[in-house]
Amino acid sequence: MADTYDVVIIGGGPGGYNCAIRAGQLGLKTACIEMNDTLGGTCLNVGCIPSKALLHASEYYAAAKNDFAAMGIKTGKVEVDLAQMMAQKADAVDGLTKGVAFLLKKNKVDHVHGKGRITGPGQVEVTAPDGSKQTLSAKNIVIATGSEPSTLPGIEIDEERVVSNTGALSLKAIPKKLVLIGAGVIGLEMGCVWSRLGSEVTVIEYLDRILPGTDNEIAKEAQRTFKKQGLTFKLGTKVTSVEKLKTKLKLTMEPAAGGDAETIDADIVIVAVGRRPYTEGLGLENVGGKTDRRGVIETTDHFKVAPGVWAIGDCIAGPMLAHKAEDDGAAVAELIAGKAGHVDYDLVPGVVYTNPEIATIGKTEEQLKEAGIKYKKGKFPFMANSRARTNHETAGFVKILAEEGTDRILGAHMIGVGVGEMIHEIAIAMEFGASSEDVARTCHAHPTLSEAVRQAAMGVEGWTMQM
Ligand code: NAI
Repeated sequence: MADTYDVVIIGGGPGGYNCAIRAGQLGLKTACIEMNDTLGGTCLNVGCIPSKALLHASEYYAAAKNDFAAMGIKTGKVEVDLAQMMAQKADAVDGLTKGVAFLLKKNKVDHVHGKGRITGPGQVEVTAPDGSKQTLSAKNIVIATGSEPSTLPGIEIDEERVVSNTGALSLKAIPKKLVLIGAGVIGLEMGCVWSRLGSEVTVIEYLDRILPGTDNEIAKEAQRTFKKQGLTFKLGTKVTSVEKLKTKLKLTMEPAAGGDAETIDADIVIVAVGRRPYTEGLGLENVGGKTDRRGVIETTDHFKVAPGVWAIGDCIAGPMLAHKAEDDGAAVAELIAGKAGHVDYDLVPGVVYTNPEIATIGKTEEQLKEAGIKYKKGKFPFMANSRARTNHETAGFVKILAEEGTDRILGAHMIGVGVGEMIHEIAIAMEFGASSEDVARTCHAHPTLSEAVRQAAMGVEGWTMQM
């Protein structure tokens, strides 16, 4: 019988592998079970990383086609080589998944290939791809099984013509007509990729706005910008069926509030209506674990499911984001090692990697109003930022919200080129409980896009200087 592990982690995505690395660093005897051939979970294999590879490449293509001439750069005919674009994407994924395997090894974590199932307290049965079984004994079990795409009733995802994020990242040809169901993060990122590459893109959204949960002003600006880039939005509309005809797909939709149905044709449909926790065959019931109505694993204080059983990442409450899962993972490893481990879900930044990017942290204006919290607002447009103007990238703005009276920063919302990097300035400020004045009085290099963040912070107290 094998030695008992201090920690057995089920799932090798960003939550699981970061938990494993941190546990290894802390000297805990650790195993990480992953059922896929490669580590990295959704993020590395069919999520964050491959989507960013396509976003980056398609952004270069769009720039070469649309913007180079104005900057005095002459090119020949700019064309897409989709096979090569997919190959460089696969290369990025391959390198990074191997990197995770290396990091587990370096931190003395056993990587166990197979599907894990909790059979009782401290017991995890692993079924290998060849069907063979082994049982691992563990003082602590960490569930990091992540999430899977949600589906809609009557719409079958085949990953060929009706696809989830997985199929959307590996289309074999550029669709002429692409329809996205859901104007959330995946809908916008994938819509932008394929629109840049030449698809006619329609985004159908149930609600009367895009990016639910995002600050309204940002969502409105984003919709305006993406519309200008060629995306068509049909808001307040629900898709009731997708008929698979021989040469095309026929979608039937109707107003969410009720009304006459209409149809739209598509070559490819991407279903991006959210994700749900993945807990199939996990054996949660064998340790008394429970899920709520939406399948989210219930945890008591600090990730605890049952004595010696913990859960992290997309399968528990909180934002379904890779970096939140990473932080959960490190926190649980530290708790198991007897240290303090805590993640503040109010300070998890969210980034949509479109062009311009969208980045948010903390409370939106709507949330503050709803909570009756009095706030001041500073706003600065990139149109007035010297670097953005020089780069001919003037779309968007930065908005900072601070509590009236204390001036403590409560939220920041940005849309613009590069804001996915700039948001972290505010993340650190908020971690330290900074005021808007702290950011406003911090010297920022000139000329940088980040000066827009400083100017927005100055705006909270009404002393924006460059506008
Ligand atoms: P989402 O929750 O961001 O958006 C889903 C959208 O679908 C919502 O706008 C919702 O109102 C709409 N919707 C739901 N039912 C519908 C229906 N029947 N008809 C039309 N619209 C409907 O989910 P999404 O985009 O699928 O992404 C899944 C998860 O992956 C999210 O949690 C997201 O945060 C994460 N993700 C994060 C990324 C990032 O951080 N850059 C990139 C991609 C995904």
